[in-house]
Amino acid sequence: MTTRLYVALFLAAFACPGFAQVPEGYGCMEGNLPNEVRQDCHPEPGASEQICRARGCVWCGPDPSADGQNFPHCFYRNPFYVAPGPSCDVGYVQPALRVDCTDGTEPMGEMGCRYRNCTWCPDVPGSMYPPCFTSAAVDDTGYAMVGEPVQTPGGISFTITKSLISPQFENQFTTLNFEATFQSDYRLRIKISPSDTQRFEVPIQIDPPAGSNANLLYDVTFTRSPFSFRVVRKSSGAVLFDTSAGKFQFADQFITMSWRLPTENVYGLGENEQRSFKHDFAERLKYTLYASDQAPYFTSSLYGTHPVYTVIENGGNTHMVAIINSNAQEFHLLPGPSMKYITIGGLIDMYFFLGPTPDQTVQQFTEAVGRSQMPAYWSLGFQLCRWGYDNITNMKAAVDRTEFYQIPHDVQYGDIDIMRDELDFTYSEVNFPGLPAYIEELKGKGIKFITILDPAISTIDADYEPYTLGTEMDVWIKRQDGTPMTGHVWPYGATAPCHFPDYAKNSTREWWIYLVDKFHDLLAYDGLWIDMNEPANFDNGDIQGCANNTWNYPPYQPKTDANKADMHFKTLCGDHVDSVSIHYNTHSLYGWFESEPTLIGARSGTGKRSLVLSRSTFIGSQRWASHWLGDNWSHWSNLHFSIIGVMQFNLWGMPYVGPDTCGFIGNSNAAMCQRWGELGAFYPFSRNHNVRDTIDQDPGAWGAQVAASTKAALEVRYTLLPYLYTLFYHHVSSGTAVFRPLWYNHQDDSRTYPIDRQFMWGAGLLISPVLTEATTWVTAYFPNSRHFSYYTGDEIPVRGNTLNMTAPLDFIHVHVVGGNVLPTQEPARNTEAARLNPLGVIVALDDGGSAVGDLFYDDGDSIDTHLTGAYFHAVYTMSSGTLTSTVVHDGYPEMGTKTLNTIRLMGLTTPATSVTVNGVSHTDFENLESGEVLVRNLNLVANSAFTVVFA
Ligand SMILES: *[C@@H]1O[C@H](CO)[C@@H](O)[C@H](O)[C@H]1NC(C)=O
Ligand SMILES: *[C@@H]1O[C@H](CO)[C@@H](O)[C@H](O)[C@H]1NC(C)=O
Ligand SMILES: *[C@@H]1O[C@H](CO)[C@@H](O)[C@H](O)[C@H]1NC(C)=O
Ligand SMILES: *[C@@H]1O[C@H](CO)[C@@H](O)[C@H](O)[C@H]1NC(C)=O
Ligand SMILES: *[C@@H]1O[C@H](CO)[C@@H](O)[C@H](O)[C@H]1NC(C)=O
Repeated sequence: MTTRLYVALFLAAFACPGFAQVPEGYGCMEGNLPNEVRQDCHPEPGASEQICRARGCVWCGPDPSADGQNFPHCFYRNPFYVAPGPSCDVGYVQPALRVDCTDGTEPMGEMGCRYRNCTWCPDVPGSMYPPCFTSAAVDDTGYAMVGEPVQTPGGISFTITKSLISPQFENQFTTLNFEATFQSDYRLRIKISPSDTQRFEVPIQIDPPAGSNANLLYDVTFTRSPFSFRVVRKSSGAVLFDTSAGKFQFADQFITMSWRLPTENVYGLGENEQRSFKHDFAERLKYTLYASDQAPYFTSSLYGTHPVYTVIENGGNTHMVAIINSNAQEFHLLPGPSMKYITIGGLIDMYFFLGPTPDQTVQQFTEAVGRSQMPAYWSLGFQLCRWGYDNITNMKAAVDRTEFYQIPHDVQYGDIDIMRDELDFTYSEVNFPGLPAYIEELKGKGIKFITILDPAISTIDADYEPYTLGTEMDVWIKRQDGTPMTGHVWPYGATAPCHFPDYAKNSTREWWIYLVDKFHDLLAYDGLWIDMNEPANFDNGDIQGCANNTWNYPPYQPKTDANKADMHFKTLCGDHVDSVSIHYNTHSLYGWFESEPTLIGARSGTGKRSLVLSRSTFIGSQRWASHWLGDNWSHWSNLHFSIIGVMQFNLWGMPYVGPDTCGFIGNSNAAMCQRWGELGAFYPFSRNHNVRDTIDQDPGAWGAQVAASTKAALEVRYTLLPYLYTLFYHHVSSGTAVFRPLWYNHQDDSRTYPIDRQFMWGAGLLISPVLTEATTWVTAYFPNSRHFSYYTGDEIPVRGNTLNMTAPLDFIHVHVVGGNVLPTQEPARNTEAARLNPLGVIVALDDGGSAVGDLFYDDGDSIDTHLTGAYFHAVYTMSSGTLTSTVVHDGYPEMGTKTLNTIRLMGLTTPATSVTVNGVSHTDFENLESGEVLVRNLNLVANSAFTVVFA
């Protein structure tokens, strides 16, 4: 599926044919931007690639489709970057400490600034550092505390007021309530809202904490005038959050607050394309959050809204901050380090999660906002998709190529091209004749089927039930005059007027659940993929346009789009009405509202766990849906960016995430697909997908070499699926992340903080892919633990250091971390077959000769087995040469029909001379050259407790 910018992006993807040989770096394909958003990095004559690169800018020819226009070849990586100008010497205030006199509206000139009695010092003209500023000390427009804080049952509250109203913004609130709620020792809520006016509040569910609030990990302190607050970690004295960094302002459509951060080890905020996982405060980036159907352009807004970030403090303590606001918003990342936050509605409602370990922060955050559903076991298998099969022959050909090369394949997709006239809940009997029978045929081979739904419903057929029933049940989003809003999306090649469902409404939920459930009778889908739900509209706002009012043209408009267009550009008008509020407030919640009824319908239709993938997500969407990273690019840089994206969503409590392997937009190539296919085997959600009108990129399409390395990497994945599945069980039961940055497990090791080209599965597996073209080595960092090659059992000779390792084109480095037991199962063409194979364990010893791990297993498809008890759970511990399996829960009888057959023991200091299983000598073992002991043919009943002694 694609975006409204499809054509423009598609051309941009081919913008630099003459530069295709530019090596990785800031070359053409890395960081390329569409012509319109490029900021000239070399305005003077004589630009060359060398000078351009020396300036840290991107060198790339202009889009050849842009006839006769003079677009820069050399441009800033950040489309919003503005180069520093000359410095000013009178009234100078360090940029990061400035308080904007213009409240962030479009920059004003020197005259206007002086009129306001502010200092004019344009040393960084046009940048987010205000050229016109007042300092906090002289700011008479701030708020001041009234009286003393009052104890409330769970915290404190007081009033703040503002005596002078600054002229810049209308409808400022002069009296606000400040409430700090000490929800638990580790969870703090801060809410600032007008005393006398009800504001829009985000309707997501925040669950209460389990712990008490008797021993708070934090203090909250204040300055009276101008008012500011600080959150301090008691144990270290670290100031986690300090709003004296800048002006606090609360007007109806403009709220801003700035705060200092304790370190630059800051991760998160999104959804945006991010080019480093650890934020770079020197680049002065501004990330905009407002659900948008556009391809990733660096800081521009994308599909989801997750105003959530994580900070590693000095010394390794970690905290998370979540801002519960769904209006269009911006985060300016400034040196200091500090953040300036702007939102154009709602209120300030934020939660602090004090950890102090990274794992605890994610557990605490997900305890509040919700955790994911347990994924179906089959959904951890490899998935194949494309937009543009166009007919069933091509779909079958892709499936057959995959089968020909014996590449694991668990899920086949149909995109909108399987539909009749792009209508939801249909399929084309012309282009996909016999599709229902083909789906049954696939199921017979153990392959599942997922297809797509878009929100927009065509209005032109009198007998199209989704429309007629929808109108009868009054499910549509309305205009101010009460008529249904109307736009165009895909139906009838984007020619049919469409209405948009108001998923917040009960009748809409009933209507949608009914349709989704019934759809299963037509096409026996196993999961659903909900796209275009930002929501995307091919008209700007409405076929009628949007009225000129403050909701459609707000006084301050975050730059939601790479093209700097109006907020209703290719979506709905801000003043459209749903059952909760105006679209201005609920826009970024659209996908969130759609997710739950889709899951309910899919579970009703399938009778199983099923799966919903949503392009647009919000905090807490994981309760019902997961996510793919959207319309990424077939560029080498996107291998790297994908790791960052998946790590982010894991911190946000949505571990089942992945990008389109091989890239969505543009033609991929064999070299890229080979490396991406290897990396793709290690995303929690592993799917190859691409856009219409590009060449085939499924792993079988490139010939034997790419097919073989994809197969090999996927077979590693399939072997480790019991481990991956068990990691998901830990997420479901305690909220922990599955796909992790190294620092998640090594918070005390600051050398891990910037690493975003390697990642971990849980605590036990380290993956170090090659992410660049024509490269056959990788320099990987190994934290201070023992690490063993997954393939050979060889121990890595370094710890707390990097190692340059050869990495042939068909090979991806995977290492097992000492101290872990990883459950395994022999791979097969899909999980249905693999689940019948023998299980095993990989035991990797730590320095003390110990290891621990566990196995969660169930039928893989029933709903909530971890709650009903229909599962098996065993814990494995190894110490002093003895491996013990303890059955913790034995609620899945079929476990008794499976066997555990092999043990791979890594890290013994001397070769094993004997192996004794449950007291009986077992002779089928081998000491490998690497030092690994391989025990075969154990034939243990998989749900039995056992003891294996190595001597
Ligand atoms: C600026 O200061 C002058 C003199 O102190 C005062 O008369 C004027 O009202 C101020 N202007 C604004 C916009 O506050
Ligand atoms: C399917 O599409 C391909 C082009 O992609 C075309 O060559 C072929 O004839 C089509 N087959 C059918 C059965 O329509
Ligand atoms: C919608 O349904 C929920 C749950 O069934 C119910 O609590 C709520 O009152 C309903 N809302 C309306 C407006 O009927
Ligand atoms: C909206 O109306 C205001 C005031 O009449 C005008 O200044 C502005 O240009 C109008 N905006 C649009 C988009 O028509
Ligand atoms: C790693 O080794 C390769 C091959 O020997 C070499 O080309 C490359 O420069 C090395 N990389 C680093 C970072 O040292």
